Amino acid sequence: MNFDAIVVGAGAAGLFCAAQAGQRGRRVLLIDHSERVAEKIRISGGGRCNFTNRELDPRAPQKHFVGDNPNFCRSALSRYTPQQFVSLLESHGIAYHEKHKGQLFCDGPSQQIIDMLLAECAKGAVTRWQPCAVRDVVFAPEGGGVYRLDTDRGPVEAPRLVVATGGLSIPQLGASDFGYRLARQFGLRVIAPRPALVPLTFAGDGWAPYAALAGLALPVQIETGRKKERMAFLEDLLFTHRGLSGPAVLQISSYWREGEPLAIDFAPGTDVGAALGEAKARSRKRIANELATLVPSRLADAWVGEDPALQRPINEAADRALAQLSERIARWQITPAGTEGYKKAEVTAGGVDTRDLSSQTLESAQPGLHFIGEVVDVTGWLGGYNFQWAWASAHACAAAL
Ligand code: FDA
Repeated sequence: MNFDAIVVGAGAAGLFCAAQAGQRGRRVLLIDHSERVAEKIRISGGGRCNFTNRELDPRAPQKHFVGDNPNFCRSALSRYTPQQFVSLLESHGIAYHEKHKGQLFCDGPSQQIIDMLLAECAKGAVTRWQPCAVRDVVFAPEGGGVYRLDTDRGPVEAPRLVVATGGLSIPQLGASDFGYRLARQFGLRVIAPRPALVPLTFAGDGWAPYAALAGLALPVQIETGRKKERMAFLEDLLFTHRGLSGPAVLQISSYWREGEPLAIDFAPGTDVGAALGEAKARSRKRIANELATLVPSRLADAWVGEDPALQRPINEAADRALAQLSERIARWQITPAGTEGYKKAEVTAGGVDTRDLSSQTLESAQPGLHFIGEVVDVTGWLGGYNFQWAWASAHACAAAL
């Protein structure tokens, strides 16, 4: 059979692109080396798939997307909006609900989204080869140019090749560096991939005093970066045995660079210095007990710790000791040693350099070769932004096939 386009990677972006192109009358072959399609959709959003976010503003993508050029995604995001994906869901009778900050989740299992995408592919008469590995790709320039793929199921060719193989996160679910290797093979630039939306770890000895707080979750303001590049999130933080996690930390991890400190405010919106000063004037309770009215008591105990200057009733505390304690609550500075890596990262930041891609069609500087979804240097915030980029980039690409 002859194909107009081959899509490699049957995840969120690949399935959606193949379906859309098929429905536009293109003969599409979709190839994936895994046994099952879209494993990441299945496990996403705690099994309920946070499939998009209502707060996404395509006119200001830099608000919710990270990359060397966050404006790159503006065109695709404005041509395929969260509302359009919601309408598609509704046409398939899939019920959903909004959680915090515009995040939309399925009421039922994520499998509903996968079934919807497979039904859309069937509507577009998409041919699927799975599991099927691609061993080699060559470009033959004759007759307008064609991509020849050597696969487990034999050779196959098409004038257009779409790479939708995602990033390096969760290797046990079939992640590979195929997209980056192929980009380099055709002379395209790749921004060094790194784990993002990932828990942060700390050096063993330095972390020992905090390891006992594992399991504690609390709302914080968390910041990193310098001057204009400073980023801050107001979200929940979770102490773990090895470091810090929770939405606040996952979000900031996409901006954190090795060697940079984090600044954490454990009592956002509260003037801890003023509150402790006021307590000193009226209370004889121990400092840890007064602090526990402002932050969780486990944190209060840990922060007061063994310091003799703080083992006393608050009315007997030195102003300087209280000021230092308030500073450590409102501006705790700590430098992560690293991240939990691709095993735990929800996404991969970096990827195919947007300078070598068209923002309209996702076609690369190599004619007929497109890159969509997470393999591109576009990384969304936690909360449905990464799937919306997968749908929107797939849609923009399919329109050009
Ligand atoms: P995706 O990774 O989905 O698909 C890539 C496909 O390519 C896979 O099927 C893989 O098998 C295939 N492939 C790879 N290498 C290949 C090769 N060499 N040959 C053939 N096939 C190959 N996002 C969000 O917006 N909301 C959410 O709720 C979540 N939740 C979430 C939870 C967890 C645990 C993770 C790990 C990730 C999320 N995400 C998320 C992120 C989201 O899953 C991710 O951004 C998208 O799935 C990216 O879609 P892609 O289609 O680009 O890649």
